[in-house]
Amino acid sequence: MNWREYWNSDTPIYVSERHKLLHYRGIASDLAALVAELAPGDPIVLDHGCGEALAAERVAARCEKLYLCDAAPNVRARVEARLADNIKVTVLAPDEVDAIPDGSLDIVVANSLLQYLTRLEFDGLLVEWRAKLKVGGALVLADIIPSGTGAATDAGALLRFAATGGFLAAALAGLARTALSDYRKLRGTLGLARYDEGEMLAILTAAGFDAVRRPRNIGHNQARMTFIARKSGDPVKAA
Ligand SMILES: C[S@@+](CC[C@H](N)C(=O)[O-])C[C@H]1O[C@@H](n2cnc3c(N)ncnc32)[C@H](O)[C@@H]1O
Repeated sequence: MNWREYWNSDTPIYVSERHKLLHYRGIASDLAALVAELAPGDPIVLDHGCGEALAAERVAARCEKLYLCDAAPNVRARVEARLADNIKVTVLAPDEVDAIPDGSLDIVVANSLLQYLTRLEFDGLLVEWRAKLKVGGALVLADIIPSGTGAATDAGALLRFAATGGFLAAALAGLARTALSDYRKLRGTLGLARYDEGEMLAILTAAGFDAVRRPRNIGHNQARMTFIARKSGDPVKAA
């Protein structure tokens, strides 16, 4: 199994339905606020690696159009069925992103995606995202795991989230289950991509963006990082 297959399976990463719902509500609230801050008006937004997007309506309410892209066909089918009546939302497979007109997007978001990508995949997406963004448009890369951060940090963040969200018992049971799960096995064999702040800023600069780290990460895990990268008007120099 690889990460793509894992996300297409019945992923038990959430310890309970309440955890999953609070996770997606939190992400959507943060994203809705960020969209309003980065591109006031009626922006066109792509959420790449959107997952179940359980509260995407909140983000869509701030947009003229919201593209939701996910590589997992089973995830896309559920998102499509749930948001079928929302005329602002279009669900896309990754190879369908190519059909979005170049220079048309105000914001691209990738939350909790990069850790599951190889560096080659990430570099390919940076080229694609830059092409689809307007000059000055914003790429939001969030939930980036810094080097040296391990599973214990994530477990601590989950327990704090669970304590405030009222699902602590489920989180403790879930952590015990996770220790034996496919997620933990894949984390051990495939690993998760990690980037330091300086490394990420250098990657984004080389890819043609003016990037800064945001003081707060999107979502509950503040050990992870969010970057805002504006598409610069200059052509990208060959490496
Ligand atoms: C950890 S989930 C994050 C979901 C959501 N963004 C969130 O923050 O909750 C990662 C998602 O990225 C999707 N994914 C993985 N690789 C992808 C790719 N190359 N293109 C689009 N989606 C991808 C997976 O199917 C999965 O749904």
